[in-house]
Amino acid sequence: MTAEPNKFYITTPIYYVNDAPHIGHAYTTILADVLSRYSRLLGTPTHFLTGTDEHGQKVFEAARKGGITPQEHADQTVVRFQELWERLGVSHDDFIRTTEERHNVVVQKILQDLHERDEIYEGNYEGWYSVSEERFYTDKDLIDGKSPEGKPVEKVMEKNYFFRMSKYQEWLIDYIEQNPEFIRPKHRRNETLGYLQKPLGDLCISRPKTRMPWGIELPFDSDYVCYVWFDALVNYISAIGYGQNDEQFKKWWPATYHLIGKDILATHTVYWPTMLKAMGVPQPCSVFAHGWWLTSGEKMSKSDGNVINPMDMIDRYGVDALRYYLMAEMTLGQDATFTEKGFIERYNSDLANDLGNMASRALKMLDRHFEGRIPLPGPLTAAEDSLRDDTLRAVKAMEESIPAMRLDQGIGAVIDAVRSANRYFESTAPWTVAKSGDMERLATILYSAAECLRIISGLLYPVIPEKMTELRVMLGIEKDGIEPSLKNLAGWGGLTPQTPLGKAATLFPRVDVKKKSEQPQKPKKDVKKKMEASTDKKVEEKKESAPEDGLLDIKDFFKVQLRVAQILEAEKVPKADKLLQLQIDLGEEKRQLVAGIAEHYEPEALIGKKIVVVANLKPAKIRGVVSNGMLLAARDESGVKILTIDGDALPGSEVS
Ligand code: ME8
Ligand code: MG
Repeated sequence: MTAEPNKFYITTPIYYVNDAPHIGHAYTTILADVLSRYSRLLGTPTHFLTGTDEHGQKVFEAARKGGITPQEHADQTVVRFQELWERLGVSHDDFIRTTEERHNVVVQKILQDLHERDEIYEGNYEGWYSVSEERFYTDKDLIDGKSPEGKPVEKVMEKNYFFRMSKYQEWLIDYIEQNPEFIRPKHRRNETLGYLQKPLGDLCISRPKTRMPWGIELPFDSDYVCYVWFDALVNYISAIGYGQNDEQFKKWWPATYHLIGKDILATHTVYWPTMLKAMGVPQPCSVFAHGWWLTSGEKMSKSDGNVINPMDMIDRYGVDALRYYLMAEMTLGQDATFTEKGFIERYNSDLANDLGNMASRALKMLDRHFEGRIPLPGPLTAAEDSLRDDTLRAVKAMEESIPAMRLDQGIGAVIDAVRSANRYFESTAPWTVAKSGDMERLATILYSAAECLRIISGLLYPVIPEKMTELRVMLGIEKDGIEPSLKNLAGWGGLTPQTPLGKAATLFPRVDVKKKSEQPQKPKKDVKKKMEASTDKKVEEKKESAPEDGLLDIKDFFKVQLRVAQILEAEKVPKADKLLQLQIDLGEEKRQLVAGIAEHYEPEALIGKKIVVVANLKPAKIRGVVSNGMLLAARDESGVKILTIDGDALPGSEVS
């Protein structure tokens, strides 16, 4: 798929064992599962690793609260992840826990080696520590006395050990620049390069046991344990036998993908590469950071209390319904919003209506008219040719979407093929043909429909393995659970006449929206509505209290935060003629916003411009793309002109 076509090694983050898994964790793991399953379909040797991060202050505190040892706490909580993966049909080859001996020995060996080679030295530490993020910050990192993520920090002063990360700064910048696939997608790569413009400090890799004893002991100072991130990142190589089993290590390393959420970009694209460099280990082929699942505009996270429990969704709708929604709904690299209503709509339309109906119609007619066997097709007409072309186009689209990490597009192309099969059925009207008694023509139509379903079942198998196995059993092609192979999907005519079909059953029963969503859904913002419109609405709601003369109190004006932003990237929103999607730099943060200016500006012409945005607008979703802010522009008959800054002003500067 990427640089190493002869093998595929993929990892997920190892999740903090103390948190209950939610949709966000399920997402990364399912994505890794889907990519692994495609890789196996291609016949590529595949290794898929996941696991749990079990050291550090958070686990230590949680155990203390529960009155048990941290190890007991980890042993009790790890099963929540293991059970969920089992339930979700996740096909990982290995599950690593950082409290396992096989991991500890590797971390200690690395620490010892780096210390001996003076890559790790003793020094004094003074800084700010965020317990919830398990990260140190310097004075200049803090915003209003809190971490950049808004978490509380505490002042810390003590003797510690440091990794000479700073000396690899120039090397890392060069490496990232010379290897465009190393950090994906592109805007995350730019984010790391931006971060590397500031001088990089050395990394504090120790914790005094007096403060926090729960970790891997430093081999050269038993008063200290290893910083949890330095320990956790090593899982990607300890699990495959680094320093212990050379043959196994060489077989899988370098990783094809480290899949992560954008929340842990810096640890994976700055700490980890410099650690590997110091160890003399080659870099992973690609670190891919996906966006966040949001609920009502916020990141889903336990501390914010807005998590969706995957087990609940599975209980209500089934495993494959959840897997399908997560994979089809998120454009890799962008944020996506999880709503139960959107979930049900997509399930009903793509799966129950399109795919479920197609399968049930074809299978019923095969049963009725050909005694439950694949018939021998007669001469093909233009209708069959075009069904074949549409189906094979989906094969190609899926093949291309996987290395491009655009699974949503691949899945969309498959659903297009399903729709085209339904149209084929409508236009060839096999029910009329059956009445007329033309059994040869009927055989051709039903054979072609079944052949299309065979290919689709293989293409969607990695995404919804349980349901597609059921479909393949119904089609008589999967008697002993053998996985399909992409090789035999590429050709038309794989079904053998006379093969007996399995028992047909409903694959995707329709969900009744009203019955199923128990909690009354908040009235969903009309996502198609432009942002301007939603702002208008807010103004309207406030009208009652607005003064008669329409003049604004200065206090009200200052509620609107106007700030300077620099456009980093601009691209068209697919299938929306008027919309551009911009990545902007707001000083201390990067954001994405959507603007209705595509008819007036070429995306390339916008890059680098400094513009004015409303920074404190509630995030909105426009045509499925999250927009976090609004740019200002003037409009007259000649078109739209965006407001830019005269001269130079730093991104993030206030406009007043
Ligand atoms: O960070 N949307 O573990 P963690 C999408 N132990 N993905 C999400 C998400 C959301 N709202 N919330 C979480 C840690 N994730 C460290 C990792 S790796 C050496 C150590 C997913 O339990 C996403 O993959 O906080 C994110 O990066 C990960 O869970 C964080 O899991
Ligand atoms: Mg986290």
